[in-house]
Amino acid sequence: MSKVISGFSKLSKQEKMDWLAENYFNNEEAVVKTIQQYWNSDEQLQQLHDDFIENTLTNFYLPFGVAPNFLINKETYVVPMVTEESSVVAAASLVAKFWSTRGGFKTTVLGTTKIGQVHFMYAGASDDLIAYFNTKKSDLYAATASITQNMEKRGGGILEIELVDKTDKLEHYYQLHITFETKDSMGANFINSCLEAVANNFRNEQIEIVMSILSNYVPNCLVRAEVSCPIADLGGDDPYKFADKFYQAVKIASIEPYRAVTHNKGIMNGIDAVVLATGNDFRAVEAGAHAYASKEGQYKSLSFCEIDNGIFKFWLDVPLALGTVGGLTSLHPMAKLSLEMLQNPSAKRLMEIIAAAGLAQNFAALRALTTKGIQHGHMKMHLQNILNQLGANALQKEKITNYFKGKTVSHSGVVAKFEELK
Ligand code: MEV
Repeated sequence: MSKVISGFSKLSKQEKMDWLAENYFNNEEAVVKTIQQYWNSDEQLQQLHDDFIENTLTNFYLPFGVAPNFLINKETYVVPMVTEESSVVAAASLVAKFWSTRGGFKTTVLGTTKIGQVHFMYAGASDDLIAYFNTKKSDLYAATASITQNMEKRGGGILEIELVDKTDKLEHYYQLHITFETKDSMGANFINSCLEAVANNFRNEQIEIVMSILSNYVPNCLVRAEVSCPIADLGGDDPYKFADKFYQAVKIASIEPYRAVTHNKGIMNGIDAVVLATGNDFRAVEAGAHAYASKEGQYKSLSFCEIDNGIFKFWLDVPLALGTVGGLTSLHPMAKLSLEMLQNPSAKRLMEIIAAAGLAQNFAALRALTTKGIQHGHMKMHLQNILNQLGANALQKEKITNYFKGKTVSHSGVVAKFEELK
């Protein structure tokens, strides 16, 4: 039987589930039951979620947790986090508390501009194109007036339109490279609408528009988060040795790409969790962050460490294109609640909070890696998952959790203990 289907999106939800269960599963009833188990009993709320995408069958839960005690520029925040990784929220909370007694996080937004490009082909003389662009430039701004009107009222809009000759890389290839300020919105729809209006106005018989699209590379929409304290205040058995090893770990990530990717992945554990909780676009943030990590031609650490005059300083520079208005931010009730929890921040403030979450996560990972090793904390947090996988009951869970207090958890160790108790 052919499984290619036409008009799937037009089917009702029930018909879609039935078709899916019939064609791709052996246990049709159980499949439909599992899908239905995640429906929200509030029909209006379910409809809201159904409408986010096409062919919604149900919802997919991820835990929503909070990390308190984030002291950022002298304000204390409780940071909402959505993630499936057991240790992320625990690590963020621990490190937030640690730095709250050492001056907290200091953050600075270094830039907020974003880029969009109209990519086009032109085979004529480049001087003629430059002349055409110069005569057209004010028209291009005018062509976007109806789109930019509201944004301009909020202090944003198009900041600059440049003509860029790329013919040395690809024959006949030019761009209109446009700089935007989108204030509290992430601005993807705004930028793309402006670009299409510009492209329509700019095209002529000799100019073939290939595409118009924003760039997720946002090196000038950048934020810095930093922590620092006297080395002696770092605590532990030997804070000087700790600071040294920590410094080495960051240095390794700045020169060794295999390590840098994992190092930055740890940063993104913190960043993505808050990006998701606030209804922002984590794919855009991921793409932009990793591109920024490669800006010098080699993939490097996004964070830096300095030890100077007895002071330990650790900081992170990361590009973050975020919105606190528009998109899902007010539509998804949990994203809305997350933003309320953060005192309804501007996009700039949210950049700062999220960068602090990224730095905290990186600090937690490096502290664990350079001292006890990562598995100690990871497996402790993962213990409940293993117990759930094994189908342990409440009493077994309690006994096994108590048994592993102060010990390093391993999968085989938990299985052995579970068997022993049975
Ligand atoms: C795991 O999700 C993240 C870490 O691997 C990050 C790191 O190695 O720095 C622990």
